[in-house]
Amino acid sequence: MMKGKTVVLGVTGSIAAYKAAELASQLVQVGTRVEVIMTEAATQFISPLTFRNITGRPVVTRMFELASEYSVEHVALAEAADVVVIAPATANTIAKIAAGIADDMLSCTVLATKAPVIVAPAMDVNMYENQVTQENIAKLKARGFVMVGPGYGRLASGKMGLGRLVDISEIMAAISQVLGKSGDLHGKRIVVTAGGTQEPLDPVRCLTNRSSGKMGYAIAEAARDRGAEVVLVTAPTALPRPYGIDVVQVTTAQDMYEAVQKAVGKADALIMAAAVADYRPKKMAESKIKREKADKLVLELERTPDILGEVRGNFLRVGFAAESEELVANAKEKLRKKQLDLIVANDVSAIGAETNSVVLIDRTGSIDELPTLPKREVADRILDKVASLLSS
Ligand code: CTP
Repeated sequence: MMKGKTVVLGVTGSIAAYKAAELASQLVQVGTRVEVIMTEAATQFISPLTFRNITGRPVVTRMFELASEYSVEHVALAEAADVVVIAPATANTIAKIAAGIADDMLSCTVLATKAPVIVAPAMDVNMYENQVTQENIAKLKARGFVMVGPGYGRLASGKMGLGRLVDISEIMAAISQVLGKSGDLHGKRIVVTAGGTQEPLDPVRCLTNRSSGKMGYAIAEAARDRGAEVVLVTAPTALPRPYGIDVVQVTTAQDMYEAVQKAVGKADALIMAAAVADYRPKKMAESKIKREKADKLVLELERTPDILGEVRGNFLRVGFAAESEELVANAKEKLRKKQLDLIVANDVSAIGAETNSVVLIDRTGSIDELPTLPKREVADRILDKVASLLSS
């Protein structure tokens, strides 16, 4: 979605301006054309040369530099932009944009563009909390600007508070979501599950599995970046909360069952990538099980609900089959038994890994064996299939 797109990156005069160099670099690496516009104040914090070297493009710093090699017609970048990103955005620039002032190249470009604008504020907490800044931000939101952050943490003044530029990964996610808005899953609601459920034995112990949640999170993010509205029902994982996705945290298979039932209300597809426990301790001990109580401990387990087997409705149902043997045969049997539209079969070795090699089997019996790919690419291949099943 990002390849070949033009991102106009506005950098303003905040101590966080140096972080925009990393953003520019990541944008170049995913194949976007990055046109940097700096305010005069930004050039006090970081040199235009840094951006010029990273992007391989001239950097615009002044409006009236018509004779120089950096000269650009004052609305040319506004027209070329697929998206404008202001990171970091100071209170001053936010105020100017909210008021429609166009007295430098950045504010002029924002006023003139029809492209979506993403704003990542960075400022002192008192400036951020000031009523006028809050009103300006509310104005921008109401006009459809996408605000990312600010985050909480240590600020340049030494104070702790809201005002930090969010992580670059979050800004990248916002750009990728905005650019993918009219993708092939636009207007679709997709529910994805991820992670390994935890079934408590006592207040400190549980039965779980080695699922990392990476496959489910990759699917949720890929669906977001193709225009879908995504609900991610996730068991505990070590992964950061993904941007732009409605996240529902659960612990047990029963919790996940209830959350999925609730989430599929208006869904177009349910993709069950979670490793759901098939059994749970019949009784959870109310206090910690003590070692000296007995030489041997026998656990009695009972079945958990089969979420994918039981949750039915007018939406596409996609399952995963993690198998140690007879991959395709076992997966086909699960597809048939749970009456799925698509099953993604993978070897158990994929659990916790960065890559996956899967076989996709759909309700018509068509089999597609994919090579070993990073999980995000596997996610996109699964969604290609989901998009085509949804349109058929
Ligand atoms: N699944 C589910 N609820 C469960 C167990 C599994 O919804 N209680 C889902 C998984 O998320 C996956 C699919 O069913 O999408 C298949 O999971 P898997 O554990 O491979 O299959 P099972 O039917 O549990 O069979 P087995 O463990 O015996 O292989």
